[in-house]
Amino acid sequence: MDAISPPATHQNAHAKAEDYHALYRQSAEEPDAFWLKQAERLHWFVPPTRAGDWSFDPVDIKWYEDGTLNLCHNAVDRHVEERHGDQTAIIFEPDDPADEARHISYDELKREVVAMANALKALGVKKGDRVTLYMPMIPEGAYAMLACARIGAVHSVVFGGFSPEALAGRITDCGSRFVITADAGKRGSKTVPLKANVDAALAQDGVDVDAVLVVKHVGSDVDWTEGRDHWLHDKVSDAACPCEPMAAEDPLFILYTSGSTGKPKGVLHTTGGYGVWTATTFHYVFDYQPGEIYWCTADIGWVTGHSYIVYGPLMNRATSLMFEGVPSYPDASRFWAVVEKHKVNLFYTAPTAIRALMREGDAPVQKHDRSSLRVLGSVGEPINPEAWRWYYEVVGESRCAVVDTWWQTETGGIMITTLPNAHAMKPGSAGKPFFGIQPQLVDNDGGVLEGATEGNLCITASWPGQARTVYGDHERFIQTYFSTYKGKYFTGDGCRRDEDGYYWITGRVDDVINVSGHRMGTAEVESALVLHDKVCEAAVVGYPHDIKGQGIYCYVTLNAGEESSDDLCAELRAHVRKEIGPIATPDHLHFTPGLPKTRSGKIMRRILRKIAENDYGALGDTSTLADPSVVDELIETRQNR
Ligand code: WT7
Repeated sequence: MDAISPPATHQNAHAKAEDYHALYRQSAEEPDAFWLKQAERLHWFVPPTRAGDWSFDPVDIKWYEDGTLNLCHNAVDRHVEERHGDQTAIIFEPDDPADEARHISYDELKREVVAMANALKALGVKKGDRVTLYMPMIPEGAYAMLACARIGAVHSVVFGGFSPEALAGRITDCGSRFVITADAGKRGSKTVPLKANVDAALAQDGVDVDAVLVVKHVGSDVDWTEGRDHWLHDKVSDAACPCEPMAAEDPLFILYTSGSTGKPKGVLHTTGGYGVWTATTFHYVFDYQPGEIYWCTADIGWVTGHSYIVYGPLMNRATSLMFEGVPSYPDASRFWAVVEKHKVNLFYTAPTAIRALMREGDAPVQKHDRSSLRVLGSVGEPINPEAWRWYYEVVGESRCAVVDTWWQTETGGIMITTLPNAHAMKPGSAGKPFFGIQPQLVDNDGGVLEGATEGNLCITASWPGQARTVYGDHERFIQTYFSTYKGKYFTGDGCRRDEDGYYWITGRVDDVINVSGHRMGTAEVESALVLHDKVCEAAVVGYPHDIKGQGIYCYVTLNAGEESSDDLCAELRAHVRKEIGPIATPDHLHFTPGLPKTRSGKIMRRILRKIAENDYGALGDTSTLADPSVVDELIETRQNR
């Protein structure tokens, strides 16, 4: 694949090619000096005297340990103190384009965050307490995160698309006693009953909180539990509420993410390192210039929203656009209508959205002026070269830099990417390691692979934004990330490195699938399915899906006496949505009398993946199967034809 030179239209770029090489070398050779220098981007109450202090064996990760700071101060107060209070911090674009957009200045942001922080204090929230957020994509979601950070509470944002069951699990796992939500949210003309979902979550056995703080947003009717539920507007106050000085290693947030086994893990990020990492990566990767309008289309319920809607942009005093709606409402030109309306310069979205919009043709894009655009970002899953080219050529008129940013919930921020103006771009390749990142490709036995090669992607040295632990289960943190290849952080991704040192992520090599950029453990969907009283056994695999990247293919065996039917199919779909949420809805349900197993009873997923991919000609060795005839039956009845 030919490399595409960086567009020549950039002025004042933060990093040129030479700078990248020099900075990268320095970050590798003198990490302490490099990361102490980068830490100067932030305001510290007590500046740190050293940067990294970490080990991957045993696993103990600390950065900037003797420094104290507050990220709300860095994202809000600091800009007001430096006389930028009248600059727009957040532009809010509502779901319905007929509703008015809001421009929230840094002054106003500070007032709102202080007001909400006071409300939290009035409810009894203290430093170190966990607070669960279940919010629509409205500025109050960002206020709530920043209000927690301000008083030293640990936020745990749960995506508003998760079901009450999933929410309940995430409330109890971290022992959260407080929930912040809204009456409802809006997404593409639909109303999401957030408060009712919280009520349903809290109605479950063993789930209990002290207080629910409710933002009035849609104005819909809600049930009310006196003593527990409080409207935000009844609790706010403008009393002084100083930013709590936090030790660099004090927890900032927990965010649940799926793995290949068990229930979702509460990935824990701390204050100083995460702050430096998101501030630094945002600065370089988006090449942010003062006054520019930046828009990341993610939801604050995912790490992308944490790092690149809230913390990274606001700590850089950017103007960050928050969009409540969806790309298809009222029609497929909405993204570009918003770009034109707010003169967006930097735009960050997911391949699944790009592919869905590409299918609608060029006209919806071309009817809007996109001349403000300068950098186009992609995140969440591998972007196929065809979608990359459409993004670059049609959306960006072949004059914008495209940054394909590889990272994970656990990495806190961007790890592999090209930098605008500094690197040539290769469609489909994430590019080069960011400063301080030392990728390594290993074979299945852990043997290090050099040069142009393909293998399992590990990172050999810590970086400031790295997750520190799994909340309440450090052993699981060690097991999941540092035990497959001892002494290395294993990402779970497969990857190719080409002769130019560019990295090409090939996708997960574990039992995690990526559906529309949402990460999901196949085990979670299986657990949900077997909870249904008619289901005996389930095996779930991913298969290539044109729009979603991967689709969810479920093999299901039923209990004796149960019959498969269209009704049961619909029932199981609804059941999975109820247990996890709409993002986990199965695409294919394949009822089968049996699953291919080895003689020791292990399900042969490799075979199930092949059949789901409709690639059953190359099933490989099936001789270890207990009953090979199961496979013929599965091929015969396959769903994804
Ligand atoms: C997994 C992490 C990073 C924030 C959103 C997802 C996949 C992510 C890319 C990319 C290829 C990518 C990986 C990774 N992924 N970005 N640019 N190219 N794959 O965060 O939910 O923690 O998922 O998403 O497989 O491991 P996440």
